[in-house]
Amino acid sequence: MREDFDVLAAIGVTPAGGVDRSSLNDAHLAARKWFVERAAEAGLATRVDAAGNHSALLPADGPTLLLGSHLDSVPNGGRYDGALGVVAALHVLLAVQASGLTLPVELEAIDFTDEEGTLVGLLGSEALTGALAPETLQAPRGGREALVAGLERAGLQEGQLASARREAESLAGYLELHIEQGPVLEHAGAQIGVVNAIVGARSFSLVFRGAAGHAGTTPMDARRDAGLAAASFAVAANELVVRDFPGCVATIGDLQLEPGAYNVVPGKARVALECRSEDGIELERLATALLGAAQREATARRVELEIEPVGRWEPTALDPGICAAIEEVAAGLGLSSLRLRSGAGHDAQALARVTKAGMIFVPSVGGLSHDPGESTSWEDCVNGANVLLGSALLLAHRSR
Ligand code: HGY
Ligand code: MN
Ligand code: MN
Repeated sequence: MREDFDVLAAIGVTPAGGVDRSSLNDAHLAARKWFVERAAEAGLATRVDAAGNHSALLPADGPTLLLGSHLDSVPNGGRYDGALGVVAALHVLLAVQASGLTLPVELEAIDFTDEEGTLVGLLGSEALTGALAPETLQAPRGGREALVAGLERAGLQEGQLASARREAESLAGYLELHIEQGPVLEHAGAQIGVVNAIVGARSFSLVFRGAAGHAGTTPMDARRDAGLAAASFAVAANELVVRDFPGCVATIGDLQLEPGAYNVVPGKARVALECRSEDGIELERLATALLGAAQREATARRVELEIEPVGRWEPTALDPGICAAIEEVAAGLGLSSLRLRSGAGHDAQALARVTKAGMIFVPSVGGLSHDPGESTSWEDCVNGANVLLGSALLLAHRSR
């Protein structure tokens, strides 16, 4: 498993030792190709569905137990986010294959398309679960152009994506091993995280439109400075969340000024806004409050504001029975475990809508993720893979 993990980490490697496998970029496509070729070499069946989800399968007569995660990364991301779950799932299939065990379920290791939302977000898992709304593809958070180009590169037909849908009855459940991407397990000294819920998120593209002008001759009180409106919104958003929404988060992950020159007052500012909460009602209140703050800052600076919703993922509870199974397996292996919610989004959010879904976390060093410095000890990775194997076997036998 370590050898495979290292080969995979070299695909799309960045100078700082992370990876850049943004959805459907060349490195991501190369990683997916490696995955199915590696599985085929080992004698496993493979499949790529209409949404580009790549799978290795251990066929059996029964429903499918999906073991998955994703091989795409955020720009300049880390080696573990998603990749650990896919490699560990592959090795669960290889271990069962080597043992000669016949299970009452078909095991499928799956790499979902565009989990990270560089293009859409949970694209492959929402297609598989029938949740992919066509309108989502018209205004995706990565922009329509990037989506069309990515589908083109991957040889995927937009009109066919939804045909990747699986019948819920065909699924025995979903398990995902993932790094925690936060500090909780490390602070608690727990070896295994048992995820009981995943936060929901809203994404918006905001455009502040003012008036470009000469940086030298436009008096300060005569400006309609879109950049200033966006920057003051960033400060106001941070103050609002910290003050009124404890436990929630809001992020401005990108801010583009146009025309973007030293000597031009920016006439346009585009802001990528995302907010998250583990409660659906609170998430709506948070989004409304943030958009209200954006409008207030625009008005105060005499600029226009355009708001475009570009992503929506609901807070999700994971299956209590699977949580208990993961705890049982961890205890059986002599590993300490802790129940926690995930502040990061995952494909399990989509799968939980149609089948029993569970997630196993392993600690992130310093809680760091979405950065080349992302790291998890190999001992913890192996612990996680063994808990994934044990949980898969337990769920398989319980599915009889
Ligand atoms: O954005 C997230 O929470 C996840 O890493 N896709
Ligand atoms: Mn991930
Ligand atoms: Mn991620």
